[in-house]
Amino acid sequence: MKTKTVFICSECGFRDSRWSGRCPTCGAWNTLEEQVVTEEKKGAEKSPPAGVYSGKTVPAVLLDHLEMPQYMRSKTGYGEIDRVLGGGLVSGSVVLLSGEPGIGKSTLLMQIGGKLASGGQKILYVSGEESPGQLKLRAKRLGVSGGELYIQTETNLDKILAEVEKLSPDVVIADSVQTIYSESSSSLPGSVSQVKEAAMRFIGLAKNEGPSVILVGHVNKEGAVAGPKVLEHMVDAVLRFEGEREDSYRMVRAVKNRFGSTNEVGVFEMTAQGLMEVVNPSEALMAGRPKNVSGNCPVCVMEGTRPIIAEIQALVTGTVFSAPRRTANGYDYNRLYLLLAVLEKRIGLRFSACDVYLNVIGGLRLEEPGADLPAALSLISCIKDVPLPDDLIAAGEIGLSGETRAIANAEQRVREAERLGFSRILLPARNVGPGKLDPSAFSIRIEPVKSLYDALSVLKK
Ligand code: TYD
Ligand code: MG
Repeated sequence: MKTKTVFICSECGFRDSRWSGRCPTCGAWNTLEEQVVTEEKKGAEKSPPAGVYSGKTVPAVLLDHLEMPQYMRSKTGYGEIDRVLGGGLVSGSVVLLSGEPGIGKSTLLMQIGGKLASGGQKILYVSGEESPGQLKLRAKRLGVSGGELYIQTETNLDKILAEVEKLSPDVVIADSVQTIYSESSSSLPGSVSQVKEAAMRFIGLAKNEGPSVILVGHVNKEGAVAGPKVLEHMVDAVLRFEGEREDSYRMVRAVKNRFGSTNEVGVFEMTAQGLMEVVNPSEALMAGRPKNVSGNCPVCVMEGTRPIIAEIQALVTGTVFSAPRRTANGYDYNRLYLLLAVLEKRIGLRFSACDVYLNVIGGLRLEEPGADLPAALSLISCIKDVPLPDDLIAAGEIGLSGETRAIANAEQRVREAERLGFSRILLPARNVGPGKLDPSAFSIRIEPVKSLYDALSVLKK
């Protein structure tokens, strides 16, 4: 066998014999990593790919003759996680939990492991990052004890799989996939080929009526699973653990799910006793909000099937720069530019002479168009320095002519706003009327607006 040096892109897996600053296929910068690979001789026996292709020849079957699968789901003990997974952890599935270092992945999985174990399941928690002592300390802090929760501090893939065979657990947690290495590959742990190899072996294990597997993957600031993005295609579900480390709120979001819907988000709060579920995120996010201050506007967004109320805050100040500053936290940066352009052109507000900062409280990330109208209102309120009424909330998309556009799930949003005690809600006019929302069915006052210009009237007394 011969070895040679290649450069592999950690984002897309592209290979080249030369290094370059930018990956020619996916366009990512500085992602090509040097690796030493062993070339197999031509004709050498290749191991079959893992996953559903177990190496056996599978004949074609008529679609009508296929049986409906019976997914066995086990509850993790955390409603927030079960909902994100689509109703619980499917046995024999492989889930990737990704997030930045320090966000709380190990904490969450230790808690889930504890709950599952106390529910009578056998869990193997493999840690390649912490010592048994550290794990024991964390478990004590989290109040995790009892049940069949096995801990293995190991990074060698073959040794881990041997232990899995011996114990035959119901769930294997591998923390993290980047620390696990296989001796059959000569590249460094954490490299694309190593991570891929580990994931393939775990997937092969799970698909052959083995345990469910939860893989932990660290991501970098840009949100890519450090090492291989390729991992996301291989696993059944990808959960992303998000939030600002300084903020106590943490969101678990499904970005891919073969057994349920995506877009669901579970909300947690990091406390001294570990992660606590936040069953009523709207209330938590609205607690202690500033009253009678310009630049603040509550918004009701849909996170999967659940409406969540958060607050958008804007700060607009005269600029001293030739190119004014724009910062968006929790809100899409390009969307902010678009809103500012619409506000400038259609209402004549001179944002081009101002620095603009937009922030969503609680570490929530608003990714849906329904946040346009409240974002615009907070910007208008700040530049005019007129506070919005405290009992007012808004939801609606804004088009390029400044018109409001209908949003989905209007009724659910209105109900949530009502529940939280708001007395007025601004909605796109197209959401209200016969066949749509009937304002008389709600105790909250629904105020339909056709355009941004209409919405301005709430600023006047
Ligand atoms: P950790 O789960 O180790 O993060 P990850 O595995 O994603 O790298 O924990 C992250 C942070 O959480 C750590 O800095 C300390 C904090 N933390 C708490 O605030 N309370 C707790 O009970 C625990 C266990 C951790
Ligand atoms: Mg960790």
